[in-house]
Amino acid sequence: MTWLITGGAGYIGAHVARAVTGAGERVVVLDDLSSGVTARLGADVPLVRGSALDADLLGKTLAEHAVTGVVHLAAHKQVGESMARPTRYYRDNVGGLATLLEAVAEAGIRRFLFSSSAAVYGNPDVDLITEDTPCAPVNPYGETKLAGEWLVRAAGQAHGIATTCLRYFNVAGAAAPELADTGIFNVVPMVFDRLTRDEAPRIFGADYPTPDGTCVRDYIHVADLAEAHLAAARRLSAPDAAGDLTVNIGRGEGVSVRELVTLIGEVTGDTRPAVVEGRRPGDAPRAVAAAGLAARELGWTARRGVREMVESAWQGWRLHRS
Ligand SMILES: NC(=O)c1ccc[n+]([C@@H]2O[C@H](COP(=O)([O-])OP(=O)(O)OC[C@H]3O[C@@H](n4cnc5c(N)ncnc54)[C@H](O)[C@@H]3O)[C@@H](O)[C@H]2O)c1
Repeated sequence: MTWLITGGAGYIGAHVARAVTGAGERVVVLDDLSSGVTARLGADVPLVRGSALDADLLGKTLAEHAVTGVVHLAAHKQVGESMARPTRYYRDNVGGLATLLEAVAEAGIRRFLFSSSAAVYGNPDVDLITEDTPCAPVNPYGETKLAGEWLVRAAGQAHGIATTCLRYFNVAGAAAPELADTGIFNVVPMVFDRLTRDEAPRIFGADYPTPDGTCVRDYIHVADLAEAHLAAARRLSAPDAAGDLTVNIGRGEGVSVRELVTLIGEVTGDTRPAVVEGRRPGDAPRAVAAAGLAARELGWTARRGVREMVESAWQGWRLHRS
């Protein structure tokens, strides 16, 4: 197999590229570097700089590298920005996917893996979110991921492409410091940012109907997530691969924001108490994956715990921010 990894210079994509090349498969990365970093890529990984919206470049790349499967991660991912600029999210996330799927069908490629998100579910009032929990995204980002899944399945059926959609829960950590997330959009780097600026971490809402009153989430180590991609890619590589599969990628264990902040204090040595502020609109009290389908279908389960996520993320933070 030769895999095209779009968004492969990004935080998750670079981990996936490393896992797939580490397993002996050939990889080519397509990335417009809007948020990607070339230094994350190994010297043995060719980088095509350009957009998933560029049909000519896609056709050329698929042919020149004799691509046989695609892992599509390239997308914008900021919920707040998606509410302020919904057209950008629909144009790039859904439009980029449509352009890519046309090129894939045209090239006769029969394997496609799509990077989806727990954001497709919105805020369901359930203990564990299964893949059958109704999808009701609450922001344009989540909508583009749900529309993306529909498009992937429809194109798969129309063109005989075996497809897999992975719905990631809350991704954290780094397999190596140089691969770490450099953005401040998720809770772990947000707390690091506060501590680095000599400020107390903030907790948004401590009056939720959860054991300690703060929101509960399912955190997944990015190295485990990369291994889930490898497992999904292997399943797609089977000679008889067909149909579509949509799976949650999480640990199936809830961790509250307060527990996470306490753990970050232990790891960083900065144990100043958090300040509690008002709830943020749209935050669900609890979002935890049912992780059984991934175990059954992919033979994959997460191996790394939350402390390992925080420790590795902190090493990455110190490399990039000090
Ligand atoms: N980080 C998370 O917690 C999380 C959770 C669920 C889903 N996801 C999804 O995972 C994927 C990767 O996220 P990430 O955290 O690595 O983000 P990231 O911003 O680090 O990576 C995205 C990569 O895609 C590239 N890119 C963006 N638009 C492009 C385009 N039109 N053409 C070519 N390249 C383009 C960027 O330069 C970047 O390298 C995204 O699809 C995101 O929606 C992320």
